[in-house]
Formats: sequence, C-alpha cells, structure tokens
Amino acid sequence: MPRPSGHVTYNNTGRVVLVTGGARGIGRSICEQWSASGAQVACLDRDFEDVDNLPPGVLTITGDTSADEDCARAVSTTIAEFGAIDVLVNNAAIQPPDSYRPLHEYTVELWNRITSINLSGYAFMARHALRAMLPQQSGVICNICSAQGYRTAREVAAYGPVKAANLLQARQWGVEYARHGIRVVSVSPGAIMTPMVRATLDAQGGEAALANRAPMGRLGSPEEVAAATLWICSSAASFVTATDLLVDGGIDALAAFAEPYSLPDCD
Ligand SMILES: NC(=O)c1ccc[n+]([C@@H]2O[C@H](COP(=O)([O-])OP(=O)(O)OC[C@H]3O[C@@H](n4cnc5c(N)ncnc54)[C@H](O)[C@@H]3O)[C@@H](O)[C@H]2O)c1
Repeated sequence: MPRPSGHVTYNNTGRVVLVTGGARGIGRSICEQWSASGAQVACLDRDFEDVDNLPPGVLTITGDTSADEDCARAVSTTIAEFGAIDVLVNNAAIQPPDSYRPLHEYTVELWNRITSINLSGYAFMARHALRAMLPQQSGVICNICSAQGYRTAREVAAYGPVKAANLLQARQWGVEYARHGIRVVSVSPGAIMTPMVRATLDAQGGEAALANRAPMGRLGSPEEVAAATLWICSSAASFVTATDLLVDGGIDALAAFAEPYSLPDCD
C-alpha cells in the first residue's frame, strides 16, 4: 500500500486574494495555487509580457507597487470585480543583478529603486488593503520576506536590510490590527528557483553552490512557498499573527560559523 503523501488541500471558495508580482516566480505559483483552491484571484504585476496565461478567471492588473496610485487602483479594481478583499499577498520585490555590490558602490538611483518597491511598495499596498479590511473587520496580509532578512548574505546591502524591515512591518501591523480581526504575517523563503534567482546565479556562486548552502541540499520551488501562504492565510492559522514562517530548507538554522560550502553534496 503506498504511503500517504500528506498532501493538503484548501478550500478558498468565496475568498478574494490580491497577489502582487504574480506574473512570474513565487507570485505566479501563489496565484495558481489560490485559484486552484477556489479563491477569486487578482494579480497585480508591472509586466505581463512573455508570460504564460494565468489560470482562467484570474484578474490581471498592470501597475507598479512603488506607485501609491497604482496600489490604490489595484485594491479598488479587485473590490469592484470581486466585491471584497480578504487576503493581500505582498510579493512583488526586486533584487537586480547589479545590486550585488558593497554599499559604498551604490548609486542613489539603485538604492531608491530597491527601497521604493521592496519597502514602500509593501506599505502602500497594505495601507489600501487595510482601509478595505477595517470596515469588514477581517482579512489577512502576508508579506513575502526572505531568509536574507534574518542573516547577512554576501553583497545584499539594500535587499537584506529591507527584507528585515518587511519582517518587522508584519509584526508591527500584526499587533496594531489584531483587535480588528486582521492578521498580518510573513513567509520567508530561502533560495527558490525563480527568474529572480536565475538572473543572479553567477553572483551567488552558481546553482550547485547555492543549493549546497541549504541543509536540505537543494533549492526550493515556488510551489513550496505558495503552499505556506495557503496555510498561514487559512483559518487553520487563525491564532497566528505578527510572526514569520521560514520556508528555507533549514538554512536559517545552519550554524553561524559553518563554512558556506562545508556541507556534503547530496547527490
Ligand atoms: N527566489 C528566491 O530565492 C527568493 C528568496 C527569498 C525571498 N524571495 C522573495 O519572493 C518574492 C518573489 O520573488 P521571485 O523570485 O518570484 O521574483 P521574480 O523576479 O522571479 O518575480 C517577481 C515578479 O514581480 C514583478 N514585479 C517586480 N517589481 C514589481 C513592481 N514594482 N510592481 C509590480 N510587480 C513587480 C515582476 O514583474 C515579476 O513578475 C520577492 O519578494 C522576493 O524578494 C525570493
């Protein structure tokens, strides 16, 4: 008799989720899994070119999360189409290959590009979603953060500290809105194979080295992060707020003084 896989299914029929950066990578998988679970899904992305079709019924909204008016429009369009907003997944962020450099080499333009999307974008989206969630006294906001928000990594002078700020956004807002029926949580991926990581593999020492840094000896998949959002935004997690869930193959627990490449290969 085959062993049970432990696969969990969720029923999000009747719930409305807005996902930022949902055209590719982790955000795309979040759109797909939430759609498959019955939710009405709105996907905000600044670029839908050259991407495969999202599942039928997913509402696509073109906009940039660093522009407050685009965030307002994404929330109002979602509500106009689906009647409410129950879940916001703040996922859109950038880690450009040219950002792998020490801070003193940063231009103001590069610093502003990263912080305006990765930090302000999360706050702008949450601000408008909260205005819709407060009257209904319910909702969940989930920030996609990063294992790089917990610990230092090589040459992530802006991305790492801003991810740490995303973690505290969830804690701060989670506390402030807890008595309004609104949970604010975060999910922190380790290295996940997405277009973002593919573009920066060289800066991170190549795929094999990156995989070998994690105790599990592999990169994670976008589906494994999306699955965490399904749980943490579900009623199964109803007493969970103002906290983070690491989905990182164990990398955060790795001894701080371990040599980066000292784990045995897993093949
Ligand atoms: N891939 C990883 O290993 C990894 C690890 C830790 C955390 N994360 C986080 O997961 C999230 C998704 O990462 P990914 O690897 O899937 O990225 P990705 O670059 O593969 O996809 C990001 C998507 O967001 C969109 N986007 C970017 N900026 C936007 C903006 N200003 N407005 C609207 N849409 C925008 C892009 O067009 C793209 O479709 C990010 O928050 C990232 O920091 C990723």
